[in-house]
Amino acid sequence: MRDLFELRDADVAGRIAELTVPRTGLTVETPALLPVINPHIETVSPARMAELGVEIIITNAYIFHGSDDRREAVEREGLHEHLGFDGAIMTDSGSFQLAEYGEIDVTTEEIVEFQHQIGSDIATPVDIPTPPDVDRERAERELHTTQDRIERAATLDVGDMLLTAPIQGSTYPDLREASAAHAYATGLEVFPIGAMVPLLNDYRFADIADLVVAAKRGLGADAPVHLFGAGHPMMFALAVAMGCDLFDSAAYALYARDGRYLTVRGTRHLDDLDYFPCECPVCTARTPEDLRAGDESERERMLAEHNLNVSLAEIRRIKQAIRRGDLLELVEARARAHPTMLDGYRALLDHADWLEQQDPVGDGPFFSLSAESARRPEVHRHHARLDRLAVPDRVLLATDLNDLPRGINDDYDGVWPLTPPFGPYPPALTQTTPLTAEVPSTPDRQSIDEAIAGIRRLAEANPESAFGVYAPDWPFPELDLPENLSIRSTESTDSSPSRSDDGR
Ligand code: GUN
Ligand code: ZN
Repeated sequence: MRDLFELRDADVAGRIAELTVPRTGLTVETPALLPVINPHIETVSPARMAELGVEIIITNAYIFHGSDDRREAVEREGLHEHLGFDGAIMTDSGSFQLAEYGEIDVTTEEIVEFQHQIGSDIATPVDIPTPPDVDRERAERELHTTQDRIERAATLDVGDMLLTAPIQGSTYPDLREASAAHAYATGLEVFPIGAMVPLLNDYRFADIADLVVAAKRGLGADAPVHLFGAGHPMMFALAVAMGCDLFDSAAYALYARDGRYLTVRGTRHLDDLDYFPCECPVCTARTPEDLRAGDESERERMLAEHNLNVSLAEIRRIKQAIRRGDLLELVEARARAHPTMLDGYRALLDHADWLEQQDPVGDGPFFSLSAESARRPEVHRHHARLDRLAVPDRVLLATDLNDLPRGINDDYDGVWPLTPPFGPYPPALTQTTPLTAEVPSTPDRQSIDEAIAGIRRLAEANPESAFGVYAPDWPFPELDLPENLSIRSTESTDSSPSRSDDGR
């Protein structure tokens, strides 16, 4: 069933794809946000969600299963009619309740069969959401149980209902990768990364990035990845850049109940807002004061609808960024929302080698906006190709070709531009990505260090060539530069090893 997920466009490790959901006969465009429908509380109706552009929702089969009335109604009507939604519906199994309350009273076979019976489009076995930071022995033992249940689920006859194979392994990246590889090998169709809620609640975005990348390493490129429990729009761009395709949001409703207003830069409380920083219909038709003064259930409903609007808008913005190829610029902006988001972005950049393999084209715009920009995969890619360039015998690398000391050119066969954070490149590449990058005229230290790393790499790859570097403001390390490299200073034209100054 692997051709169910067709990639349309990609940037960083993020992608736009079409997920075919055979049971509805529909396709869902990803990245997609699945609003969580809690059968106990309805703030925004599924029918209204469809009007807002929602193609797929998620609900919890275990909650229906646990109440006689509800079970009967949903068995009779089917999930789609019962909820009043004719898009795709994914169901969870009760594993979350298992994590919260320690036990549940259904088996994987029972709950998968039930999900099939009520018409779910994408069903979930009873995985064990092992919490973060448990000892390794427990993480392994519970992972084995999860894997056993996924294997059993894969043998059930579920017709054309899709099944998820959740990925667990606590905070052990190697277990996450092994879990993902095992899940992928079962041939099941959708791959949720589980037990992230405690990490999300504690803003542990660096750990999340490491664990998501670990899971991604175990999966094929054609595996749709769901990040279980990730519902805050602040982190969608980062999560998509890591390669997550599906999110579920209970946050839109849970936060609304507490008077909390979601934005892409974090959560605000309605009581603290004088203005709505949002263009959605809820926020343009009224002021925070209007909402505070109004009826309580109306307030909750309007907040939930805004929270959903802002989340869906962020997903659209992310898709457009993938189309344009500037998803990292969006991630960069979101990383400024909270220091822990910056930790998450930095942790993702620690995997720049992996990111680069995910997006071998990388031909989008590059705006150098921070020290982090210097660690983007495009910089790695440029450094890697420095080993393969044809280099003149004597070449000058210079930051400003228009302001060279008089006569310095005479010492060299060619002059190459030197731009932070990339480093040197042949003039012929000037108009090619990523060297068309927009960089500030006041580079930060990290960008200069990366450019120097590029110079070193070029010099070491070409020991038979001699390199001069003219970068008057850069701090070069005193020691440890390759022998075929000399640093030229402003007044250094007569310090050339081979020639004296031109006849002044
Ligand atoms: N919802 C949030 N986290 C999880 C998880 O780890 N497993 C399942 N099945 N549902 C979840
Ligand atoms: Zn709004």
